[in-house]
Amino acid sequence: MTDKHQTGRTQAPRAVDAASGFFGRHRPGPNAKRLAEMIRVDHAGEYGAVQIYRGQRAVFDALPAKKGVSDLLKHMEEGEAHHLATFDRLVAEGRARPTIFAPIWNAAGFALGAGTALMGEKAAMACTSAVEEVIEQHYAAQAEELEAAGEPLAETVRRFRDDELGHKETAEANGAAEAPGYGVMRAVIQAGCRAAIRLSEKF
Ligand SMILES: [Fe+2]
Ligand SMILES: [Fe+2]
Repeated sequence: MTDKHQTGRTQAPRAVDAASGFFGRHRPGPNAKRLAEMIRVDHAGEYGAVQIYRGQRAVFDALPAKKGVSDLLKHMEEGEAHHLATFDRLVAEGRARPTIFAPIWNAAGFALGAGTALMGEKAAMACTSAVEEVIEQHYAAQAEELEAAGEPLAETVRRFRDDELGHKETAEANGAAEAPGYGVMRAVIQAGCRAAIRLSEKF
């Protein structure tokens, strides 16, 4: 990462994600359906996030002059891969089935990442900032709901929310708001993300 590219906050990989409680036992009960929805949408979102960063890096990795931004995106992608591994594990344990839209989100995520990167470094940052803001708000709402239900998953979701906030701040520190057409791009991307969240929870 070059000096030009600042990170919002440290996102060191975490060794253990709520290894206790929720992860260690099956708890069929009145909350099981809602918990499955949460795991499904978070799993979908993290897969989509990885794909967005991959799409952006596919463009910037090919340009030697863009090594700085590429390294920055790689750092954030590693954070998403860590989040994804957590939800992958929950899905593998049978806590939720994956969304039927997974193949679409994967393709759309990559296309969104590559498309904004082709528009330039600031547009890529505008995309990151827009997406991470929606995810951060989504996780904050989930954390509150899980805390109110006394679910141990709340702690993991709360930590992931902080990571997403860090990604958003990183994108903002690297010129997201200076992208041409920032307001429109942000509105369109965020509407798409919110629709994907609603669909992935239910289907
Ligand atoms: Fe994430
Ligand atoms: Fe993120």
